[in-house]
Amino acid sequence: MSRSREFFLALALGAALALPAAAGEKPIGRVPTAEDIARWDIDVRPDGLGLPPGRGTAKEGEEIYLARCAQCHGEFGEAVGRWPQLVGGQGSLTWDDPIKTVTSYWPYATTVFDYIKRAMPFGDAQSLTDDEVYAITAFLLASDGIIAEDFVVDAKTLPAIRMPNADGFIDDPRPDVPKGEPCMKDCVAEVVITGHARKIGVTPEEKARPATD
Ligand code: HEC
Repeated sequence: MSRSREFFLALALGAALALPAAAGEKPIGRVPTAEDIARWDIDVRPDGLGLPPGRGTAKEGEEIYLARCAQCHGEFGEAVGRWPQLVGGQGSLTWDDPIKTVTSYWPYATTVFDYIKRAMPFGDAQSLTDDEVYAITAFLLASDGIIAEDFVVDAKTLPAIRMPNADGFIDDPRPDVPKGEPCMKDCVAEVVITGHARKIGVTPEEKARPATD
């Protein structure tokens, strides 16, 4: 059997298991509680919707940043080795080799909170309190002069902070890209499969396995 057939069989089996249980059978898992959903529902929108209570300043954030982030991102956000640089690079976006950082490139200050809360520190994500995330967000923004050292960042002030590259993003101008509100339901009338990997020859045929003992 070719690898791709094995793969599609595994996929079909997976799909069968995911089907709703037949009458009388017990479904797998359980209905999520409000608490389960709250743990997943941590996204923060550009306009600030989803920001939790809490607050922080750059002064408070510096110590936490040095303890939890600097070993990879550098004491000043300048990066250690090949870890990502977080601050600096303002004005470089038109260069041939732009320096895209949180402060030079990101259009919304709220995304800084969202990302750090969700994903950092790398390897120990979601171990920071909301106050700590607010304080580190303030520290990064103040490091590049976007806010003052003693500016209090919270759910109200963060969405109002204007990022240097806020106007740098434009709608996709290609004519075949849909404009306006994105379609969220029944968007494609019928899915037509126009090609298969095997047909276009990108799936290597299985060769006889070399004998092993
Ligand atoms: C062990 C190393 C490590 C530590 C510690 C760490 N990070 Fe990161 N950070 C990374 C890596 C790797 C990425 C890129 C992740 C990716 O692209 O998926 C990243 C990405 C980021 C980004 C996005 C950068 C961009 O331009 O896309 C931010 C912001 C960030 N980290 C903030 C923090 C903060 C704040 C802390 C401390 C709370 C922290 N990181 C701790 C390794 C680390």
